Amino acid sequence: MRSESEIPFADNPFSIPVADRVTRLPPYLFGKINKLKYEKRVAGVDVIDLGMGNPTDPPDPLIQQKLAEALADPKNHRYSVSNGIENLRREVAKRYWKRYGARLDPDNEVIATIGSKEGFSHMCLALMGPGDTAIVPSPTFPIHTYACVLAAGNVIALDVRDPEKFLQNVAYTCEHLYPKPKVVIVNFPHNPSSTVVEADFYVDLVKLAKKYGFLVMSDFAYADICFDGYQAPSFLATPGALDVGVEFTSMSKSYSMAGWRIGFCCGNPEMVRALGTIKGYYDYGIFQGIQIAAIVAMRHCDAAVESVAKEYEGRRDTLCDGLERLGWDIDRPKAGMFVWAKIPEPWAQMGSIDFAMKLVEEAGVAVSPGRGFGEDGEGYLRLAIVENSQRLRQAVREIGRCTRPEAARAL
Ligand SMILES: Cc1ncc(COP(=O)(O)O)c(C=O)c1O
Repeated sequence: MRSESEIPFADNPFSIPVADRVTRLPPYLFGKINKLKYEKRVAGVDVIDLGMGNPTDPPDPLIQQKLAEALADPKNHRYSVSNGIENLRREVAKRYWKRYGARLDPDNEVIATIGSKEGFSHMCLALMGPGDTAIVPSPTFPIHTYACVLAAGNVIALDVRDPEKFLQNVAYTCEHLYPKPKVVIVNFPHNPSSTVVEADFYVDLVKLAKKYGFLVMSDFAYADICFDGYQAPSFLATPGALDVGVEFTSMSKSYSMAGWRIGFCCGNPEMVRALGTIKGYYDYGIFQGIQIAAIVAMRHCDAAVESVAKEYEGRRDTLCDGLERLGWDIDRPKAGMFVWAKIPEPWAQMGSIDFAMKLVEEAGVAVSPGRGFGEDGEGYLRLAIVENSQRLRQAVREIGRCTRPEAARAL
């Protein structure tokens, strides 16, 4: 073997020129907190993690059992089809009909995705290119912005916390921007702010889409996590919705199958076809055993979905009651997996990132700083209700301890 010194140019510096689409991405704002959380854990601290909307409960045993059966069948270990097996797409169409009265053609208007985030991201790639603009919700679930950026598009972020005003701003932007926005992204129940809408919101959105010629992408990941009798409306139940857009749903939250990576994109057949074309090049579909278990979940596990929502409702109450007792001004969410809490004075002046760092450091409670969701998120924290009620009570106690008046006086 030749030594290093014998290899020509061995000492030449070598750099890896990654693509602009990578270097254009901003630093990950949750990185600092995740690092601290990790260090605390390594040091043996039991961190209560309300940082990420990552369900801690397993899926219903029937779903797990079906996956185990499917695993034992040699037929399921080959590549699957990238748009999802037929019976799965049929089940999704049936569910849309049963729950929302929306009729979908399973062959042309439904496609399975490797989690809704994959489908969402590749749809942006399918629809957008240099010079195209998307209106995205603000505060922003990061992929809503960065899937557009990765597709070389431009982004206009509009505050969604007052949905009526959001629609007015969409109309204003379409009137005054040239070229007009090509895509409008909506996400209700909204992550992070938990804002919800009623069905007439989508009627108005479809009207605007037709008037100004934009496409709609509705992220409906929290479709089933609704409280106090509220039922989140589907964009696709609106007359005319199929002409202008698609909706993304997910099995991650409703069925606690986040790690399984399965979701769906349904709606306008040309948009679904465009996504299918991209996916046909990029992937070979979801492991077939997971698709089969997902069919069983949708056929037989309605009760499990209801109990998941009930569980989150109970946790929401525990967390909101506790924070209210500490004097926080809380807007109790009607849906979703998050409490979007205004940081109380005097702590708000620290900024949400430093305050969230303080909570991990001193209370052993990890939360997401509002600033991580864009400028409109400053002054807020997002607390995911993914831990059980007992842990949430403990989190409130610890937060209370580290924000007590004596601590505030030291500011
Ligand atoms: C608004 C929203 N959309 C999509 C996702 C991702 O869903 P999936 O697991 O189906 O990719 C999440 C997960 O946190 C979310 O909050």
